[in-house]
Amino acid sequence: MLSVITTLSVVALAARPAAAWGALGHEAVGYVAQEFLAPEALAFVQSSLGSTYNESLGAAATWADSIKYTKGYTWSSPLHFVDAEDSPLSGSCSVSETRDCGDGDCILTAIANYTTRVAQTSLSKAQRQEALKFLDHFLGDIGQPLHVEAYEVGGNDIDATCSGKSTNLHSAWDTGILSKNIDDNYANDVQTYASSLISKIKSGSYKSLASGWLACTSTTKPAAKRFLHLDLGPSPNADLGSASLEDDVTRLLARAASLDAGFDEWDAEADSLVGLVGAKAPAATITPLACPLVWAKESNAYGCSVVFSYTSGEDLCTSSYYTKAVPVIDLQIAKQGYRLAAWLNVIFDGDANLP
Ligand SMILES: *[C@@H]1O[C@H](CO)[C@@H](O)[C@H](O)[C@H]1NC(C)=O
Ligand SMILES: *[C@@H]1O[C@H](CO)[C@@H](O)[C@H](O)[C@H]1NC(C)=O
Ligand SMILES: [Zn+2]
Repeated sequence: MLSVITTLSVVALAARPAAAWGALGHEAVGYVAQEFLAPEALAFVQSSLGSTYNESLGAAATWADSIKYTKGYTWSSPLHFVDAEDSPLSGSCSVSETRDCGDGDCILTAIANYTTRVAQTSLSKAQRQEALKFLDHFLGDIGQPLHVEAYEVGGNDIDATCSGKSTNLHSAWDTGILSKNIDDNYANDVQTYASSLISKIKSGSYKSLASGWLACTSTTKPAAKRFLHLDLGPSPNADLGSASLEDDVTRLLARAASLDAGFDEWDAEADSLVGLVGAKAPAATITPLACPLVWAKESNAYGCSVVFSYTSGEDLCTSSYYTKAVPVIDLQIAKQGYRLAAWLNVIFDGDANLP
């Protein structure tokens, strides 16, 4: 018994630093996405997730957190974030895939991997369900500013207070601020919260913004640069400065399809890149995707505007900090839910299918 207790507390301690948007944030992202699925994407989601997850991206969104420290899945824990080695306290925020994902194990590569895998009909039902649950989760995590920040372990090592309770900055963003908001304003019900975000997208304050969330043009320069220099497979797109979400997914899937069945696409990419750019390049880390990097940069930029702008000892859940953080969290969750729907729609219906 004692050893069971010891094991459990070790697991609990280990789990703390890399906690993600808490369950509420992930579920909200999933419920928002579910609302905007196109017919084929919806059919796949429902049959893949089945009754275990109420056929819903909302219910399935937290699975990836529940397994990341379990035997057989510990390799997945670095995939929940990218450690941007920038300087948010000096006002310098940035994300670079080569600098920050040098070992090829981060949320950017994971999104590419599971985008390819969810579409791969040669994989088993269980493997494609796993890929869907990872995408459902990682498109949420990438919207959490402290999942795109290396400073103080993404804020895990910064002590903070939320509603009088001791916590850390990362956890306040994952859980504390959001759960107070849902508790105070949405009857403590995540579906009610998600419904309010959905209404804002359909007819409220997000309506005019939503189409911009699907463009991946704001900061595509690094991506465009690598498209020009690296082998992109069958149909390199000349108009790389304006990568859209459709271009991104279509290009990735076309490339995967052109590789031999049963052949690991990431190894293949690494091999071809070593040939092209020299053996020193961290080749396997470069994904051909533009959009996830744009999403990461958007999140990371909040490190320079809102996330670290508190005064010493300020209660993050009862002060002006809370008032500034809530709209950012609402926006990021709505945006990532909408993007998740669009991403799956492109994969399964061939088009984002959204206004
Ligand atoms: C599935 O839906 C039912 C009814 O709405 C709910 O009570 C249950 O908690 C849901 N299960 C999951 C895994 O979300
Ligand atoms: C891709 O997904 C498979 C299956 O989950 C996993 O074993 C592999 O480590 C993943 N690779 C990357 C780079 O995420
Ligand atoms: Zn996570």
